[in-house]
Amino acid sequence: MNVDKILPENIKRLKPYVAGKTIAEVKNKYNLDTISKLASNENRLGCSVRVKDAVLSVLNNIQDYPDPVAQQLRHAIAKRNDIEESEVMLAAGSESIISILCRTFFKENENAVTADATFVGFFVQAGVQGIALKKVPVTEEYKFDVDAILNAIDSETKMVYIANPNNPTGTYLTGEEYRRLIDGVPEDVLIIADEAYYEYAVNTPDYLPALDYRKDNVIILRTFSKAYGLAGFRIGYAIAHSDLITEMLKTKLTFEPTAPAQAAALAAYDDIDFLSKSVDLVNEGKERLYRFFDEHNVSFKPSISNSVMMILKDEKAAINFTDEMLKKGVILRRINAFGLPNCVRITIGKESEMTHFEESFKEVYRN
Ligand SMILES: Cc1ncc(COP(=O)(O)O)c(C=O)c1O
Repeated sequence: MNVDKILPENIKRLKPYVAGKTIAEVKNKYNLDTISKLASNENRLGCSVRVKDAVLSVLNNIQDYPDPVAQQLRHAIAKRNDIEESEVMLAAGSESIISILCRTFFKENENAVTADATFVGFFVQAGVQGIALKKVPVTEEYKFDVDAILNAIDSETKMVYIANPNNPTGTYLTGEEYRRLIDGVPEDVLIIADEAYYEYAVNTPDYLPALDYRKDNVIILRTFSKAYGLAGFRIGYAIAHSDLITEMLKTKLTFEPTAPAQAAALAAYDDIDFLSKSVDLVNEGKERLYRFFDEHNVSFKPSISNSVMMILKDEKAAINFTDEMLKKGVILRRINAFGLPNCVRITIGKESEMTHFEESFKEVYRN
């Protein structure tokens, strides 16, 4: 069958997702015992011990469809953030919410404005819906360029997407920059403030969570995949004006997120101790990595998320470094798909994993 013939152009243009290597694959290929998976910005501590029982109890009723609005979780999120339940929507991860946004709000020929070096999931979901992307370069500091974004908005712009903190750079807009962006965007253009790394960022003095400077056109995305350690369950949420949430609920797959995912998230959301341990681990790991990089004259970007971006001299050096680290059992992420071919992203792991990183680095890194 000539599939090309039946495909719309926007789907033809998409490239298949290339997943990072699994622990089992790397173990087998290089005959290794110890693998440190520092590639996917997951929580290396795992998740709250409360999750297992919560999920097992749901299995008794797994023949039933889940609650389509995840009422208990919606209530808990609304209460903790001092907002209305009608301003919260749960879905199968923030990537699913990005997909919902792309299929809910765009009319023909409308575009979205974002940066060239940001979360690739947004590029993909926009591509699936055939939405034109206006990507502006990040600044020399690898930050979203507020002026460039504001200048790129035209009469066909429906949405501005920012990740704050950003992935893969770990950089962020200060409160002043964030306010300038929000104030500069016309009120009928939606602003997506993707806060997947909010829990790691929130105590940074000049970081401004989007909820603390709300306007009706701002849609905030948060997730249980990172600091809560539930990436495998696929659950995240949006906070927005209830009129927007009402429309988004119309296009959400009715029964996402799954019942086990809802139960897992509810249990994890209550375990503040685990959350703060996860954040502490990342903060300590980042400080250690910064010192290590300084000692070895490595360029990097200080980060307020759970990963640090290393800047190498060119794409070849980045390929070589990640390949050699892989042979030592350290899985890292090249971020060429995010628009930064000479950079490598390192997720902060446990102490033993950071030691594995450092020891392998000393053997393979060439300046
Ligand atoms: C900025 C950003 N947004 C969204 C996501 C996707 O998160 P989820 O697992 O909730 O779909 C990621 C995951 O890496 C991310 O970095």
